[in-house]
Amino acid sequence: MNETLKTIATRYSCRSFTDQPLGEKELSAIAQAAIQAPSGMNRQGWQVIVVKDNSLIREMEAEGMKILSLMEDKSLYEHIMARGGKLFYNAPCLIILAIREASLEGAEWMDCGIVAQNVALAATSLGIANVHCGFATMAFTGDKAEEFKHRLKFPQGYKCGIGILLGYATETGSPHVPNQEKITVIE
Ligand SMILES: Cc1cc2nc3c(=O)[nH]c(=O)nc-3n(C[C@H](O)[C@H](O)[C@H](O)COP(=O)(O)O)c2cc1C
Repeated sequence: MNETLKTIATRYSCRSFTDQPLGEKELSAIAQAAIQAPSGMNRQGWQVIVVKDNSLIREMEAEGMKILSLMEDKSLYEHIMARGGKLFYNAPCLIILAIREASLEGAEWMDCGIVAQNVALAATSLGIANVHCGFATMAFTGDKAEEFKHRLKFPQGYKCGIGILLGYATETGSPHVPNQEKITVIE
């Protein structure tokens, strides 16, 4: 296996981070990997927002938990509570991918996913644990949505695509076991 394939095979979703902050060099390399992503028609309809402000991260987490707790369907909230009640797992850094509506409906999500995986793989290659965090979008769905967009400097007309939590793992983990039945070969 070459280094790229090893990075892909060892990336896993980390759900417990130490307090140790990330270095500037590492964060810069990860941000560069993010904006290296391809996008349909090279539209680059994303903004890579690197949030290092711990109190802001915790505020977004608290808002997300509040919104989940108030939902009629309590299953997501209970899922998080069963995992320890933390949406962001103590991560010292959160990358938010803000996205612009694309003219081809849904294309912005495809572009966003590719950036997100570039972030995850770049981080993994640098020994930085990470997890894609769809729940990070929760903070942008309630009363504080506009405030958070403002504080995170979202460009006009952008919405939250996804978050990626980054940091150092408290313990090593492993990715899911790939299901070989998910591959179809037509000969
Ligand atoms: C789009 C997307 C959103 C996700 N959102 C969350 C999340 O909010 N919280 C979380 O703990 N894991 C989240 N995950 C991680 C998945 O649960 C994880 O990738 C999956 O269980 C496979 O495990 P692995 O990444 O360790 O291989 C997300 C993954 C993806 C791709």
